[in-house]
Amino acid sequence: MTPVLIDCDPGIDDTLALIYLGALHHLGEIELVGVTTTAGNTTATQAAGNARWVLDQLGIDVPVVAGESGPRQVALTTTPETHGPTGLGYLEVPEAPGGDWEEVWREGVDKHADLRLIVTGPLTDLDAFRRSHPEHYARLRHVTVMGGAVNYRGNTTPTAEWNFWVDPHAAAQVFDNPPGARIRLCSLEVTEQFLVDPDRLLLLIDALGDSPVAARLEDILRFYFEFHHAQGEGYQAQIHDLLTCMIALGKIGFEDVATTIAVEADSPLMRGTSVADLRGHWHRPQNARLVTAADIGTAHGELDRAARALAGPGAVH
Ligand code: RIB
Ligand code: CA
Repeated sequence: MTPVLIDCDPGIDDTLALIYLGALHHLGEIELVGVTTTAGNTTATQAAGNARWVLDQLGIDVPVVAGESGPRQVALTTTPETHGPTGLGYLEVPEAPGGDWEEVWREGVDKHADLRLIVTGPLTDLDAFRRSHPEHYARLRHVTVMGGAVNYRGNTTPTAEWNFWVDPHAAAQVFDNPPGARIRLCSLEVTEQFLVDPDRLLLLIDALGDSPVAARLEDILRFYFEFHHAQGEGYQAQIHDLLTCMIALGKIGFEDVATTIAVEADSPLMRGTSVADLRGHWHRPQNARLVTAADIGTAHGELDRAARALAGPGAVH
C-alpha cells in the first residue's frame, strides 16, 4: 500500500482530491497517513475543519492537523471569492484546531521510506518543514506539488499562479533547496485542463451513490462553477488538485521533463512568477520534473472508479 500524506488548503478542488484519496484509502490502494492544511484558499484552521468534515463523511479516521497560520514574509491573503466564505463553496462547517502538524510529517517520513507527499496549496508548510527538520526534509523522495504558471499565463497575476503567489518566498526557497529528489510539479497549464461541469458533477454524484458526501457536492461545486463563469472560463470548474493527486500516484498517464524551476518572491509585479529553464541557460542543478501533459480522459474515468468505491456495498459510511 502506498503511503500518502497530503498538505492542502480545502478549497473546492482540494476537497475533490480528498474524496479521491479517501476512496483509494478505502480500496487499500493507498494508506492515507495524514492530512495537514496550509493557509491559502482559506485559513489553515478552517481548511483543517473542511478536511476533517470531508474525511468524516467518508468514515475515514486519519490525523487532520492545521499547519502554519500563514506566510512568514508576506501577509496572508485568502480567496473567499473563489472557494466560498469558508472554503467549501456554499457549505460551511466548523474550523478545526491547530496542532503538531510537523509530528505528522516526521512520523510519515520515519515510518515510510516511500512516502508520497502531495502539496496542493501554498508551500508554507513544506518550507517550514525544510527549515525546522532538514534531515527529514532531505529524506522526502516523492514530492508532488500543484503550483506555478510555468512559462504560462497566471491565474492570480499575469504571470503567477495562486499557490505560488500566496507564499512566494516559501516556493522560492523550496525550489532553491529541493528535498531528497526532484519535485514533480503539476502547473496550471496542465491542471486547468481537468474540468468538471454540471453534467460531470451529476455523473459523480450518481457514482457516489449513498455516500453522505454526495448530497453536499452540489452546494460545494456550484460556487466554483459561478466563479469560473464570472472569470469568463465557462460554467465549469478546473479541478487542479485532484489531477495532481492522480499524477502523484501514477494513476493516469502523463509526460514530464527534468528541469530547473525558479520562483520570483520579492518583485511587486512578478511576485510568485515561476520559470523553467528548459534549455539549461542557467547552468543550475535540475530541481524538478515539470509535468507537460496528462491523460485527461483517463482522469475522468479514474474519478468515476474512485467514486463508485465509496458507494459500493461495504463502503465505509
Ligand atoms: O491555482 C490553483 C490552486 O490554487 C489550486 O490548488 C486551488 O485549490 C488553489 O489552492
Ligand atoms: Ca489547493
